[in-house]
Amino acid sequence: MKPPFVITVDGPAASGKGTIASRLAADHGVQMLDSGLLYRAVGGLLAAGGKDLDDVEAATAVAEALTVEQLSDPAFRTRAAGELASRVAVHVPVRNALFRLQKAFCLRPEGAVLDGRDMGTVICPEAPAKLFVTARPEVRAERRWKQLTGQGEPVTLEDILEDIRKRDERDGGRAASPMRQADDAVLLDTSEMTIDHAADAARRIVEAARARWERS
Ligand code: C5P
Repeated sequence: MKPPFVITVDGPAASGKGTIASRLAADHGVQMLDSGLLYRAVGGLLAAGGKDLDDVEAATAVAEALTVEQLSDPAFRTRAAGELASRVAVHVPVRNALFRLQKAFCLRPEGAVLDGRDMGTVICPEAPAKLFVTARPEVRAERRWKQLTGQGEPVTLEDILEDIRKRDERDGGRAASPMRQADDAVLLDTSEMTIDHAADAARRIVEAARARWERS
């Protein structure tokens, strides 16, 4: 039996993948999972409980108890939460604890869009449509800086670029499910694109994958 029409959108921070993923979800009338939010919530709740980010047992307990209702806290969308997320995301038991929720999402019969770092490689390798969205670090830093200052967070561009480089290195260099392009994912470099152009390019890639899936 062919798998549901699932779209995975992986890539580094501020590449445009979140916006692209949510537009694709709207196009296809399906739900989207922002998997980064799961790691942000684990890091945020762990830190709020006064625990060390390297306390694997405590982090795993938080991940195991995590509910979808807890994800709506705006505190998880801050710059600091992104850093906490990438610190707890290196722990294999934390990743294992979050696996089931993510896998259930990718098995939805009506299809889904999953956004993250390892959606196309680990969570949903059978997905019929996969994108790896990226952009140069300087471009991503500027986008993230505009977004954060727009939300009233006082940060400098240099600090954001430093965050992005550090996070790319940690996410791509870790042993557990490192961020990487799946062999069958289409690379979309959005460095020279507006978000509308990037979303259109993504839409065309996914339409081609959908046509192949329908014929299969
Ligand atoms: O995408 P977002 O910036 O919200 O992700 C925050 C962090 O969560 C990433 O830098 C990464 O360390 C971690 N993450 C991950 N696997 C995913 C999604 C996010 O390790 N599927």
